[in-house]
Amino acid sequence: MKILFIGDIYGDPGINYLIEMLPQLRKTYQPNIIIANGENAANGRGMTKAIYKKLMSAGISLFTMGNHTWRNPELETFIDEAKIIRPINDGSKKGSGYTIIQYNDKKVLVVNALGTAFMNVEYEQPYKKVKSLLESETFDYSLLDFHAEATSEKIAMAHYLDGKVDMMVGTHTHVQTNDERMLPNGTLYISDVGMTGPLNGVIGVDKDVIIDRFINQINRPNVVANGPRQLNAVLFTLSPKRKIEKIHLEENA
Ligand SMILES: [Fe+2]
Repeated sequence: MKILFIGDIYGDPGINYLIEMLPQLRKTYQPNIIIANGENAANGRGMTKAIYKKLMSAGISLFTMGNHTWRNPELETFIDEAKIIRPINDGSKKGSGYTIIQYNDKKVLVVNALGTAFMNVEYEQPYKKVKSLLESETFDYSLLDFHAEATSEKIAMAHYLDGKVDMMVGTHTHVQTNDERMLPNGTLYISDVGMTGPLNGVIGVDKDVIIDRFINQINRPNVVANGPRQLNAVLFTLSPKRKIEKIHLEENA
């Protein structure tokens, strides 16, 4: 069993680059299931039905979300019928925080949760909630997308769930970390998968907007950056031997 997890798809550059590169990724890695974080797909803010349909027909099996899940209110109208999970601890009554993907005779539990550090919103504590879900459901493999800002919170969660969850990815910070590994009790882990979108923005946003915000205290709305694009992902191999591999693709300027 191989599962490809694609890092946060940011705006049209992320959507289009992913669609262009998926055939090559499929051929090279031969994943059985492809999961992607889609919370920034609609110009950095949530997900629309049109984008969802476009990416599903490109071969994505399931989307996870994050702190921007509900930024595009259209999602409320179709999440309950869609292959999209939202964070289990975001307090929403719409959608679900987890799902089970059936692949041949195997059940893969996928859960999405939000971290609490530096998120500017009070979310319900995710730790015990995710652990009790893992202890109560029946599955062959399990994956957690922990959408969080702090590497310390992600690493703490990973050790807390080590041996209880098979795969854990961090998302949200949009920069791929160099710490992919198997933890002592067998959980495959990376602190952040990285993003899929503009290469030369500031985590997806036009760099001048963010530079102005930091240097000149000028607050303009976020705009998706143009130019060359990048794709970041991880491949989990669960059998016969467990491993996690980082994937990074980028275009030349
Ligand atoms: Fe996020």
